[in-house]
Amino acid sequence: MDVAKRIEELIAILNEASYKYYVLDNPTITDQEYDKYLRELINLEEKYPEYKRADSPSQRVGGEAIDKFNKVVHKTPMLSLSNVFNEQEIRDFDERIKKEGFTPDYVCEYKIDGLSISLIYENGLLVQGITRGDGITGEDVTNNIKTIKSVPLKLTEPIDVEVRGEVFMHKKTLAKLNEQRQKEGLPILANVRNAAAGSLRQLDSKIAAQRELDTFIYYLMEPEKFNIKTHSEALEYLKKLGFKVNPESRKVGSVSHVLSYIAEALKARDKLSYDIDGVVMKHNVFAEQQEIGYTAKYPKWATAYKFPAQEVLTRLKDIIFTVGRTGRITPNAVLEPVILMGSTIARATLHNADFITSKGLKIGDIVSIKKAGDVIPAVTGAVYERRTGAEKDFVMITTCPMCDTPLQKKEGQVDYFCPNESCPARNINSLIHFVSRDAMNIEGLGEEIVEELYNLGFVKRIPDFYDLKTKKEQLLEFDGYGEQSINKILDNIEASKQNGLERVLFAIGIPGIGSKTAKVLAHRFGHIDNLMQADQETLEAIPDIGNILATNIYNYFQNNQAFIAELKNIGINMAEAASERKQNDLITGKKFVITGTINDYTRNEIKDILENYDGIVSESVSKNTDVVIVGENPGSKYDKAVQLKVEIWNEEKLKEIFNILV
Ligand code: IVH
Repeated sequence: MDVAKRIEELIAILNEASYKYYVLDNPTITDQEYDKYLRELINLEEKYPEYKRADSPSQRVGGEAIDKFNKVVHKTPMLSLSNVFNEQEIRDFDERIKKEGFTPDYVCEYKIDGLSISLIYENGLLVQGITRGDGITGEDVTNNIKTIKSVPLKLTEPIDVEVRGEVFMHKKTLAKLNEQRQKEGLPILANVRNAAAGSLRQLDSKIAAQRELDTFIYYLMEPEKFNIKTHSEALEYLKKLGFKVNPESRKVGSVSHVLSYIAEALKARDKLSYDIDGVVMKHNVFAEQQEIGYTAKYPKWATAYKFPAQEVLTRLKDIIFTVGRTGRITPNAVLEPVILMGSTIARATLHNADFITSKGLKIGDIVSIKKAGDVIPAVTGAVYERRTGAEKDFVMITTCPMCDTPLQKKEGQVDYFCPNESCPARNINSLIHFVSRDAMNIEGLGEEIVEELYNLGFVKRIPDFYDLKTKKEQLLEFDGYGEQSINKILDNIEASKQNGLERVLFAIGIPGIGSKTAKVLAHRFGHIDNLMQADQETLEAIPDIGNILATNIYNYFQNNQAFIAELKNIGINMAEAASERKQNDLITGKKFVITGTINDYTRNEIKDILENYDGIVSESVSKNTDVVIVGENPGSKYDKAVQLKVEIWNEEKLKEIFNILV
């Protein structure tokens, strides 16, 4: 056998396969075939090391670990980009180019959230991969770069060229990696950029190889050498050479098209497999780029529009514990205040001790904060590269921070509880819950006032709220309460007596009963007396109420008869309020099924509205179904509805009906 020839053949097959799979996303051979050829190649190379070639894909699996990265000075500094944050700043940028006497002609690209690298090829072969570093000097990470499957080891032309682009990690890869790390008890990685940076700086390239990094190349150095005149041509040429170029890069022309590109990118963002943090706009003509010029840090012919941050980094200053109304202990992050999506964040829940351990958080860490569901701030992880050694380990407390009672943890549960029924923290939070918006909705009684009323001895138990009117004179003696505001609060307290059963059931804090279940119970029983007489079996038979809830409800009323009697005596309305029961001929008493996507309402919103009017929502269509609500891409339920001749409401009809309600 001609060994050299076979090696050449195998390298050609494998590199072609990688290119098709990782660059074009269009695999032509199976993983098994790839592995078979690769094994054959590695065996041959081991036997005949003299035939090992620079572009051999055997290097993709990683090689010997090194003890440090060599520093390399970039031939041309790796510049950064200026940032713009809104339409006005984009237009200002555009105006500056016009003022210089040029007609802007932009190429727009995604701003990939990764780290930039420079790749140097000689005679078409990859010889060096360098990180950006400080822009002047970077680190030689060639061994790790070679493990990235989308980086061609050999170009389609035997040229000397330097290109630049972004190394990044796909969102799914990070999720998989973190899952694995969690299993191994390792701290999780905060975001794709840190994960990619950490992976590229692995001294052991075998580890880097497992990290499945990817690249997009967006910059061709010295384009004049190849007679290339514009950035868009350069991107085409990069593709032709075998590089992975982002498919969304587009020559858009004028600034108004830049704005629509940005709007589209924002829409596409969440569906992408990788993270982007903005859009880069670049003036297309190279000769003009040189005339427009550079500052020390940035090119003046390009800028990056940054999306509003969805994630920020800040310091975890401390972890403090709060005691909920059920006695549950919650650790909370005390953060160096930061602004995220328009609001200042200084606190975030850390859920429970297991959450903190699984993320490997230490006090003093730089942590990443995201808004979960765009509202509640969540700590997603620590940035380990920024540890100084001064961070402190997290230690879970063993006694209640409020009353010092030893904490308890139930078998198989993650939460710790303060078991002391008279723990002040538990009591204060029960009182706060009672008056809160979704409960008795007593305006003017904020958390701080309730706490103060508790500490001053005015309100120790729920019934005390309704006795406050007899203590007006004493209340007036305390600073900060004007007569007018006290009168208002007292009026609101008095008015809350008429709220009705639904709110009362939620407000008194029966374990496990949220506002939804409270509504179901109020509808079903109409008056608290009926509910208190219900046995467990009756309760369990109600849809959405399982065995545990039924037991909770039953036990609660067994143990709290005197308390309920007290509330009744105060004059709190224990019947379902008339306002809670709404009627509409099109909905009340009818059976509904929802299928497909409705654009303007979520399924739960539709369900809530229908149930508010005593409509019944079920999952499957039968001859008993009155109406099927049909959205976009409906399922088989639609066909069944047609077949059974059930009335159908489309989104338009639904909106028409909902609009006349209330
Ligand atoms: S062009 C001289 N294009 O953003 C211009 N950069 O904030 C060099 N980046 O350091 C950069 N996507 O790491 C360019 N499509 C893109 C980019 C991009 C991400 C990064 C790059 C750069 C940083 C500047």
